[in-house]
Amino acid sequence: MITVKHFFHHETKTLSYIIYDNHSKDAVVIDPVLDFDQKTSTVSSVSLDQLCAHIESSRLNVHLIIDSHVHADHLSGAHALKKRLLVKSAIGEGFFNSQKYFSRFYDLNPAEYEPAYDHYLSHHQSVNCGSLTIKVLLTPGHTPTCTSLLIEDAVFVGDTLFQPYLGCGRTDFPSGSASTLYESITKQLYTLPDHYRVFTGHDYPQNSDEPQYQTTIGHSKRSNIMLNATTSKDDFVRERQARDQTLSPPNLLVYAMQVNILGGQLPKTPSGKHGLFMPLTVL
Ligand SMILES: [Fe+2]
Repeated sequence: MITVKHFFHHETKTLSYIIYDNHSKDAVVIDPVLDFDQKTSTVSSVSLDQLCAHIESSRLNVHLIIDSHVHADHLSGAHALKKRLLVKSAIGEGFFNSQKYFSRFYDLNPAEYEPAYDHYLSHHQSVNCGSLTIKVLLTPGHTPTCTSLLIEDAVFVGDTLFQPYLGCGRTDFPSGSASTLYESITKQLYTLPDHYRVFTGHDYPQNSDEPQYQTTIGHSKRSNIMLNATTSKDDFVRERQARDQTLSPPNLLVYAMQVNILGGQLPKTPSGKHGLFMPLTVL
């Protein structure tokens, strides 16, 4: 039996997870967040401290840190956390698509840094983390890197699927595709048993409501507002693309992409200071 512990990052509405075997205490971490204050350009590890406190108090043996995709809305804590815990990190093999595109866009050379991740996951790969076995499902569409991670009866879907009242992740990032997302959800996720638990990468609670982070495959198939079991591909693609046209870029997009194509390492200026490049659009 596994236990799933969630952590909600209020500033970016992101959910991180620690999953562990109740008996062996073998554990994995999914989507840790590095805190970033845009106004003061300050990076800190308050959220990682919370994860580490739980890991320590529950005496967990973390084996692997996994990012479900290259996040555009927050800085990945994968690199900082793996240095603290002395463990490896992983992401889907579609990562290189995003890294290639955004390293050109932001004038970054990944070869000047440590490898972004230690492992690149392929479709249907099984990953053993002590007594935990993770089955990898590549579920691109929101981004080319998106990966869902199946552990026992729980599937961690990142932004491939949201709570039924929210729908699913946007598809207007480079190499995103509503058509591909439809295939990923209907062929990879909706073919899982209805009772399987789905853990999502975001929620957007109003006021002081608690975030919702868990649903099931059956509930999603019955009532997801964007893609339920009867939604046609044409309808989904049309409505997803129409919705995408109304969305603003994520607040931290420029900052997050530069850090996240390095797996959470902070870019450096030529003189060695931590810094980020701000590309300008000149009209
Ligand atoms: Fe995302």
